[in-house]
Amino acid sequence: MPAKAAGRTADSESPPEPKHEIELEDLPGVGASIAEKLRESGYTDLMELAVASPGDVAEAAEIGLTVAQKIIGEARRKADVGGFESGTSLLERRKKLGRITTNSKALDELLGGGVETQAITEFSGEFGTGKTQLAHQIAVDVQMPAAQGGLSGEVVYIDTESTFRPERIVDMAKGVGLDPAEALARIHVARAYNSNHQMLLVGKAQELAREHPIRLLVVDSLTAHFRSEYMGRGELAPRQQLLNKHLHELLRFSDTYNASIVVTNQVSARPDILFGDPTRPIGGNIVAHAATYRVYLRKSKPPKRIARLIDSPNLPEGEAVFSLTTEGIRE
Ligand code: GTP
Ligand code: MG
Repeated sequence: MPAKAAGRTADSESPPEPKHEIELEDLPGVGASIAEKLRESGYTDLMELAVASPGDVAEAAEIGLTVAQKIIGEARRKADVGGFESGTSLLERRKKLGRITTNSKALDELLGGGVETQAITEFSGEFGTGKTQLAHQIAVDVQMPAAQGGLSGEVVYIDTESTFRPERIVDMAKGVGLDPAEALARIHVARAYNSNHQMLLVGKAQELAREHPIRLLVVDSLTAHFRSEYMGRGELAPRQQLLNKHLHELLRFSDTYNASIVVTNQVSARPDILFGDPTRPIGGNIVAHAATYRVYLRKSKPPKRIARLIDSPNLPEGEAVFSLTTEGIRE
């Protein structure tokens, strides 16, 4: 029998069976206070601990190196660190890939047929380029049946900038012929107050996904909190480490629940560029590695926006033009 990677039970029809996870507190040597500190630092399950370095765990839990090593050892024994998945089961999982329409044919084509499940799609661009509007639109579209470009799914929406607007959902739901009240009820919104909270909410999303058919998780914006909390030069490394951890938790969510992850990202000026577009998405190579699809948005003649696919290994680079209207994304 092929070894199965931890938690990978992607199924396009129904959410996986609830798993009885071993709590951090079940590890010898981990009491409530150590568990709490570990969780606060982002070690939310055994797998995170099993692959952590003793130094990081010691620092996070304010314990000695030897104790940290012991805890990691126990986590490795208890966690399903198998990690290998046969090519056959990978292929089976790939066959279940779903796609969500963006409501723009051109943008869907750019993405190879819509926003893919089991992947992270990043929308980056300056303010007002339509990142939040796209996130709203996809949160509506995923609810439609497959024949209309959806996945009959529900949504977890992590809002870090307080820009989620139920009124926009109502407009957009009407625009695609969904009942607005039902559409709103299928979107589970949480406001993230800081980067730590934002990371904890992914754990909450997992709880929700055991009860609801969550097929889309939005983080709008992925980087804003990280950017404002870790400002100094010396803080770049810890910021990138946490962001990396966050992205991997998101990827794991997408694999486990065969869900799409849509994140938005601001851009920052790059002083070294004299010609062409002088901006680039925040988060550098960390986001570049984790995101499967990276879409860079820019403004055109209103209400038009231009989307360009960046760093995609398997899709040709190209551009798509779409419009931001009151009913949502249109051609
Ligand atoms: P930041 O979060 O500030 O970085 O920007 P963003 O990329 O998230 O921009 P957002 O998606 O909020 O786009 C804002 C634009 O969407 C506005 O400038 C409008 O062009 C358009 N928009 C937003 N709401 C409406 C609406 O109700 N009707 C219409 N017609 N356009 C809207
Ligand atoms: Mg926005």
